[in-house]
Amino acid sequence: MQNKEASSYRKELEPSQILEMLFDYVARISKENSVDSILMLLADLGRELVAADRCTLWLLSEDKTQLWSKVAHGMPNISIPSNSGIVGHAIRGNDSILINDAYHDERFNPEVDKRTGYHTRSIIALPVYDGDKNIIGAFQAINKVAGSALFSEEDVKRLKLAATYSGSTLQTAIQRKEIEDTQRDIIFTMGEAGETRSKETGNHVKRVAEYSYVIAKSMGMSESEAELLRMASPMHDIGKIAIPDEILKKPGKLTEAEFEIMKTHAAVGYHILKNSKRSILQTAAIVSYQHHEKYNGKGYPQGLKGEEIHIFGRITAVADVFDALGSDRVYKKAWAMDRILDLFKEERGEHFDPTLVDAFFDALNTIDEIRVKFSDTKAEETSE
Ligand code: C2E
Ligand code: SIN
Ligand code: SIN
Ligand code: FE
Ligand code: FE
Repeated sequence: MQNKEASSYRKELEPSQILEMLFDYVARISKENSVDSILMLLADLGRELVAADRCTLWLLSEDKTQLWSKVAHGMPNISIPSNSGIVGHAIRGNDSILINDAYHDERFNPEVDKRTGYHTRSIIALPVYDGDKNIIGAFQAINKVAGSALFSEEDVKRLKLAATYSGSTLQTAIQRKEIEDTQRDIIFTMGEAGETRSKETGNHVKRVAEYSYVIAKSMGMSESEAELLRMASPMHDIGKIAIPDEILKKPGKLTEAEFEIMKTHAAVGYHILKNSKRSILQTAAIVSYQHHEKYNGKGYPQGLKGEEIHIFGRITAVADVFDALGSDRVYKKAWAMDRILDLFKEERGEHFDPTLVDAFFDALNTIDEIRVKFSDTKAEETSE
């Protein structure tokens, strides 16, 4: 349909095509939930609407000194000072700017072109607002590639249309992300409260979260399920808040009676969490209840066996014991890695689901990276 030479040259869109395209993008954007993906889709929408060669949707940083954006998955964010270039002018002037001969416009800063070897001819830049008319970023379209190769006032209107839609869409996405970040903080804080000995095991809940995620992915679980487990598994020991310090912090071995009390932490956690309708907390309830069950049926509190134990419980068991063995506890020293791995081989099909022990060994490199990244000594150096 389209030959190679024409690929950078595009036809102006008819109004009916614009409508169709908008519907198409709105549907695609509504399925995304990361701010990054939405930013990229909105930039694509802007680019198509005005037949630009490039289009970037910039967002103001919290302190408003930087504009940042995402240009491709897997690439780091890009950022520029928020007062620089044409975009900076559009934000400061609170108005759209249309330039068709960049190199004869003093507001244009040719530095980026010099660095990239790109030649900017025409530019549209305009501010993007949230629902309260605060500027939250800016759209920037560069180099018209259709018709006369000049941007028109009509293009400015079209990009404004995209900007209006973008503002509300991004605001929702950002708020959702803030809520999720807050929830994550609450989860880790509560998880650490469960730990009590947070001085020694400050990063335990974070490591268990990451190990659980990696093992889930390694056994072939979907991204969304693995992510759910990542959010929920840090709460596995929340029930320890009900265990008295004399037992929790006892430097030596627990008596049988003390261990019976200790074992109640699984059911206590379950009862704390079970009444919430939120999927994260429901998952956390399962994980809390079942993380000490054993594949061979000899665990607690219910003595469940094999696949009677929820997959999330079986995964967290591997992650939790791996981390407990590798860490100093009030009652024991950290084990060397060889000894830990031997235990997992011995307990394959006994304490642990054999499939998960295999998934664990397959992912051992990544798991070790996490162990190093979130090591407790490192955490102590950076805090306090
Ligand atoms: P934890 O210290 O985080 O250990 C979690 C799980 O890792 C343990 O569950 C156990 O399956 C495994 N694990 C930890 N250390 C060792 C070890 O030295 N050898 C072996 N083979 N496995 C180990 P478990 O046994 O159900 O214990 C649950 C929690 O009860 C422990 O969490 C800890 O808080 C407490 N606990 C268990 N034994 C003692 C003890 O002798 N003294 C004290 N003070 N607390 C204990
Ligand atoms: C600008 O300064 O806003 C235009 C982007 C560029 O320098 O290429
Ligand atoms: C921990 O507290 O570090 C994990 C212990 C458990 O699984 O009960
Ligand atoms: Fe536990
Ligand atoms: Fe734990």
